[in-house]
Amino acid sequence: MAEKNGGHIFDVLVLGSGAAGLTAALKASENLSVAVLSKGKLSAGCTNWAQGGIAAVLEKGDTVESHIQDTLVAGAGLCDPEAVRFIVERGAEAVSKLIRMGVKFSKDDAPEDGYGYHLTREGGHSHRRVIHVADATGKALQRTLERHAKKSDNISLYEHHIAVDLITGRHLKRAASAPGKICYGAYVLNTKTGQVEAFRAKAVVLATGGASKVYLYTSNPDGSSGDGIAMAWRAGCRVANMEFNQFHPTCLYHPDAKSFLITEALRGEGARLLLPGGKPFMTRFDKRGELAPRDIVARAIDHEMKRLGTEHIYLDISHKDPDFIIGHFPTIYRRCLDYGIDITAEPIPVVPAAHYTCGGVMSDLNGRTEIAGLYAVGECAHTGLHGANRMASNSLLECLVMGEAAASDILEKVSEDRKLPAIRPWDESRVTDSDEEVVVSHNWGELRRFMWDYVGIVRTDKRLERAKRRADLLALEIEEYYSNFRVTGDLLELRNLVTVAALIIRSAQLREESRGLHYTLTYPESAPKAKDTVLVPW
Ligand code: FAD
Ligand code: SIN
Repeated sequence: MAEKNGGHIFDVLVLGSGAAGLTAALKASENLSVAVLSKGKLSAGCTNWAQGGIAAVLEKGDTVESHIQDTLVAGAGLCDPEAVRFIVERGAEAVSKLIRMGVKFSKDDAPEDGYGYHLTREGGHSHRRVIHVADATGKALQRTLERHAKKSDNISLYEHHIAVDLITGRHLKRAASAPGKICYGAYVLNTKTGQVEAFRAKAVVLATGGASKVYLYTSNPDGSSGDGIAMAWRAGCRVANMEFNQFHPTCLYHPDAKSFLITEALRGEGARLLLPGGKPFMTRFDKRGELAPRDIVARAIDHEMKRLGTEHIYLDISHKDPDFIIGHFPTIYRRCLDYGIDITAEPIPVVPAAHYTCGGVMSDLNGRTEIAGLYAVGECAHTGLHGANRMASNSLLECLVMGEAAASDILEKVSEDRKLPAIRPWDESRVTDSDEEVVVSHNWGELRRFMWDYVGIVRTDKRLERAKRRADLLALEIEEYYSNFRVTGDLLELRNLVTVAALIIRSAQLREESRGLHYTLTYPESAPKAKDTVLVPW
């Protein structure tokens, strides 16, 4: 609901319009008014880009225990078993709900088991359990969720609205009456008008996605700048396990292709990783070969690329029937053909790239954070599902289950009569328009380059120390810039990226061992006991 002063009031404010945000919004809208914000178009997050599918126990012969076990193994001792069970147990129902909502999952050509939908396989999974819509699962999911959200009278959708910061006690007009750590909404930049507006709500859901844009090479869209993690940190939430950024082993290597993933499902269907001379190499690193968990595959590729001094390796599926390849991977087939690569006849040049943020804002199995009224779901959250390495296609599953869980909690907790206190309006009296936009683009580039070079697939104490020195300097420069100039979308993202970079570096420095996605030559062995890295603000 719009207020006279340009502000807005809703029962629930959802920051993010991907799988996690829209799932939460749809459930909460059963009884409450909901605003959903997205930085750009509703579909501009990672969800729309997802290829492989959604992991769930769906066919006879597979079991919840097996999915749990695979997730725990991939997570290298750091998963929270309770969170894993909670989410895995709810997978089949989440998928059934999507089918009821109209997602047209790919059917099985020759159903032997009666399930009817084609299930593919990805690294770490001991069964075929990834349900998908060819190689564009995310697009189908996003489209369906958006269609339902647009039909709801209780949901208001705000595109091109970037949350700047969460509104907590210190933003209230009468600070003395501010009770403890409570979230009342968010200050939001409307990028069409350039104005910062206040959105007040009884519950706020962070569903802002991950932070892989902190690295130079990434499979993610531009908006993955860790905004929710940085905002929650500034508001006083603890974050956990930020050192575990997942590198997907196979992104297309081509000068004109920015961030194009080649799904792991290709390997699930038999594609081989090859060295430039055509030799397979994965079994030298792991007996599961191409289907070893991602941390192992990405590290093996990195090792071989450095050993041979090559800029990429190859992924080859051309030994399979062309009709099978085009039928199962139509998007990848067409996109590669645009770049002159016929995947039915030749191998695809690929490199690893930053893909997924396993750590995030600490939240419980109701999606609650440590700040009352503030929830975190999806990639920005840390529930304990992924541990030290996320297993393929467990992420969309988590978005669906946790989006629903958070909204159910909100439906129980948010009472009609809770009054929202008055807050201070956004103060722009001491800032001017920037005269040096180049500072933003330069710092953005520098940050992502040193994160790639020093905090990437293989780390050392020395590299982390170098990264820390640079991040500290950039943080000072960016904070000064932020205090003096009117905010823009790019500046907000840069400010969040440098915060997230610092959290990743600090977490990596604290982990004096190698585990899962965190591999350091300084401590190549795993410690006997697995422990989360928890960072406490202030
Ligand atoms: P997103 O879908 O990323 O959405 C984030 C939303 O937050 C966006 O709407 C954005 O605009 C909004 N937002 C961000 N910051 C702000 C702000 N400051 N103010 C307002 N709004 C904001 N996972 C799987 O399980 N299976 C797969 O097959 C799979 N394939 C993938 C393929 C690719 C190429 C990529 C990049 C990822 C893939 N993943 C896959 C991972 C998965 O897609 C993501 O983890 C998941 O979609 C995250 O969903 P989300 O709702 O948390 O965030
Ligand atoms: C992929 O399709 O390879 C990505 C799956 C995922 O990240 O879960």
